[in-house]
Amino acid sequence: MKRLLVPFILLSAMLFVAARLTNQPILPGSASDWPEYLGGPDRNHYSTLTQINAGNVSQLKIAWQYHTLDSGQIQCNSIIKNGILYGMTATTQPFAINAATGKQIWLRKDSLAMNGAIRSSSTSRGLVYWEDGADQRILFTNDSWLYAVEATTGKPVTTFGEQGRTSMKAGLGPTAKDKMVISNTPGTVFEDLIIMPMRLSEGADAALGHIQAFNIRTGKLVWVFHTIPEPGEFGYDTWPKDTYKNTDVGAANNWSGMAVDRQRGILFVPTGSAAFDFYGGNRAGQNLFANCLLALDAKTGKRLWHYQLVHHDILDRDAPAPPNLVTVTHNGKKVDAVAQVTKQGYVFLFDRETGTPLFPINEVPVPASDVEGEQAWPTQPIPTKPAPYARHSLKASDISPLAENRQELIATLKRSRYDGAFTPLSAQGTIIYPGLDGGAEYGGAAVDPGGIMYVNSNEMGWLISLNKKLSADQLAQLSPGQRVYTTTCSPCHGAERKGNPASGFPSLLNIRKRRSQAYVSNIVSHGKGMMPAFTSLSDTQKQDLLAYLFEEEKTGATVTREPGLSQAEQAKSTVPYRISGYSKFLDKNGYPAVKPPWGTLNAINLNTGEYVWKTVLGNYPELKTKEPTGSESYGGPVITASGLLFIAGTKDAMLRVFDCKTGKLLWQTQLPAACFATPSTYEIAGKQYIVLACGGTKLGAPKGESYVAFALP
Ligand code: HEC
Repeated sequence: MKRLLVPFILLSAMLFVAARLTNQPILPGSASDWPEYLGGPDRNHYSTLTQINAGNVSQLKIAWQYHTLDSGQIQCNSIIKNGILYGMTATTQPFAINAATGKQIWLRKDSLAMNGAIRSSSTSRGLVYWEDGADQRILFTNDSWLYAVEATTGKPVTTFGEQGRTSMKAGLGPTAKDKMVISNTPGTVFEDLIIMPMRLSEGADAALGHIQAFNIRTGKLVWVFHTIPEPGEFGYDTWPKDTYKNTDVGAANNWSGMAVDRQRGILFVPTGSAAFDFYGGNRAGQNLFANCLLALDAKTGKRLWHYQLVHHDILDRDAPAPPNLVTVTHNGKKVDAVAQVTKQGYVFLFDRETGTPLFPINEVPVPASDVEGEQAWPTQPIPTKPAPYARHSLKASDISPLAENRQELIATLKRSRYDGAFTPLSAQGTIIYPGLDGGAEYGGAAVDPGGIMYVNSNEMGWLISLNKKLSADQLAQLSPGQRVYTTTCSPCHGAERKGNPASGFPSLLNIRKRRSQAYVSNIVSHGKGMMPAFTSLSDTQKQDLLAYLFEEEKTGATVTREPGLSQAEQAKSTVPYRISGYSKFLDKNGYPAVKPPWGTLNAINLNTGEYVWKTVLGNYPELKTKEPTGSESYGGPVITASGLLFIAGTKDAMLRVFDCKTGKLLWQTQLPAACFATPSTYEIAGKQYIVLACGGTKLGAPKGESYVAFALP
C-alpha cells in the first residue's frame, strides 16, 4: 500500500502542474479534486487521498479560513476543481476561492444579481461543476431558478436559458405557477444533462414533484418523469382518480439528491412522501412513486425499475439522502449494487441493474390508523438485513434517566400512541421514533471500496398530534391576520407564536421589537434556512398577517376588508386535519426524552449485512456524563483511503476523526462554529486539506460565517 502511495501522490502533483502549465482541466477522477457533490456520482463521500493518517491526524491545523459575507446555517459540501473551491454562503450566494489559500476569486451577491434580484435564502447543500474543454460552468439554484455561471469569473452564461437562468417550474405544469419550488440540493450531471432535486411545500398546496432534466448548454427542459402518474402511466391506479391534477395532493419529489451510474446510464432517484405529509385520506392507495427508489434511464427519464420504501406514507418518511453506488460480494459474486439509507434506520440494498433486493425484504404488518378517513397501508417493507441503525422500541424503561421530569415523560409516553416506527398520527398524540429527521438525514452515508458503509444516525422522538382543522365557524372568530397565521404559520411557530426553539422554530412574539415588516415579509415570500417560502399567499393575506404579527391589527367586527385566508378554500379542502406542530419529544431542559446515546455512528458491512462497529457520536459536555451522551447530527462523514473518517454535524461544534476499522475516536478539535455540512477533502501541490462549512445555527448552536480548511503543518 505504502509503496504505491508515493508514486500516486507524485502523479497527482504532476498532473496538477501539467494542468496549470497547459491551462487544461485536470483529468476527471483525479484524486486531488472533490469534483462533485459528496465526492462523485456514486455519492460515496470517499477519497483515495492518504497523506493524513492515523499517525499524524492529531497535528492537523487550520490552514485557512474564508469569512463569508453573511452568517447562518450552511449545509454546503464544497466542490474543489482545478485548485478552486466553489461554495455557497448561508444566504445561498455562490463563490469561488483559491482552495490552497482561501483567497476569494469571485462572489455573486444580491447586488450583482442576474436578471433581477436573487432574494431567496434557503439553505444550499452545494453546486455543480461542469466542463467541456474551455467551457467550464457552475450551476446552482436560487428561488425557483437554476443558474449557470462561468466557473472562472462567476459571470452569467448568457446563452443558458434566459440570460443565464432557467425555471425549475418548466416541466411542472400550470399548477406550479404560484407554488413554492426551490432546490436545496445540487443536481446530478449525466453527459450534458442536469437532473434537478426540488424542495416543495409539505402541505396540500405542494406542487407536483416531477423529476426534470435540463440541458446544461441551453437550459432547455429535456425530459420529465411523473412521480404522480398521469392516466395511462404505470402507477396511475395507486392514487385516487385525477390526483395528477394537483388540486390538493402534490410532492412525491426528490429533494435529497440522486446518484448516477454513468457507465450504465442509470439515474437513481430517491423520492419523498406525497403532501400533505401526515394525512393521506385524500390519496388512498399505495401512492407510487412517492417514497421510492427509482432507477431511470438517465438519457430519457424512462423508468427501468422502482422499489417503494414506504407505502402510502403518512409520517414524512422521505428518503433523506442520495443513494450510494457500491460494489459488494454477495453469495460469492461481485455485484454492482445501490444502497439507500432511510429515516427509519433501514438500509435497502438492490442489484443496480435489476432492482432485485440483495437481502430479502419482508412486508410486515404495521398498526392501523384511528383517524377518520385515513387508511394506513397494512404492511411496510422491512429488510431482513442489515439490522436498523436507529432504535425501534420505546418503553418506559427507554425514557432518559437524565431527565429531571422523567415520570412526566413516562406519563406522556403512556398517553401517546407508540407502536413501532410506523405508528400513524392520532388525536391524542403519537411519538414518531425514529424521528422526522431520522435515523439518517441529508448527510447520508459514506461507503468505501470494500463495501463498508458509514452512517451517522439520530435518536430523537417527535411528539405530534393530528387534529381536526378549525371549522369555518371557529375561523370566523379569528381576525384575518390570525386566520392566516393559524392555518399557515402555527404548525412551526406555535398557536401562541411562542415557537419551539428547542426544535429549531423561533418565537415570533414581540417580533416588532426585533425586526422590520419588510424583513418578515421577505422571509414569508422567500423562506429562510429551513423555513419554506409561502408564495401562494395573496398580498392582502400578507398584509393581514403582518398586521397581526406586528400587533397593528384592528380586531373584532370593525374589519372591513375581505378576510385573510379564504374560508371557502379551507372548507373545500379534502385535508380536514392539521398537525399540532413540529415538536421533538424532549425533557423539560430541552434534551431528548429517550435515553442516550442520542446519536450514533455505524459501520455496516454491506457484503454480509452485519455491523462492523457502532459508536456514540456527539456529546452535551454540560451534562458531565461519564460516557458521551451522543447528539443529533446533520451532515455526513467523509472517508479516506488512509482509513480515516471525518465528521462534524453536532451542536458541540467539534470535528471528529474516527478509525474506519475500529470506530475508535482518534482526534477531535473545536471548530469556530458548528458545521452541519458534509466535509470535502482534496489535495493541492502535495498537501491534503479537509474543508468544512461552519455556519452553526441549527440545533440552537451559535451562528457562524466561515469555511475552514485543515491541513498538516
Ligand atoms: C415548516 C415550518 C415553518 C413554517 C410553517 C413557518 N416557519 Fe417561520 N421559521 C421556521 C424556521 C425553521 C425558522 C428559522 C430560520 C433560520 O433562521 O434559519 C423560521 C424563522 C422565521 C422568522 C425569523 C425570525 C427572526 O427572529 O428572525 C420569521 C419572521 C418567521 N419565521 C415567520 C413566519 C411566518 C409569518 C410564517 C407563516 C406565514 C412562518 N414563519 C411559517 C419555520 C417555519
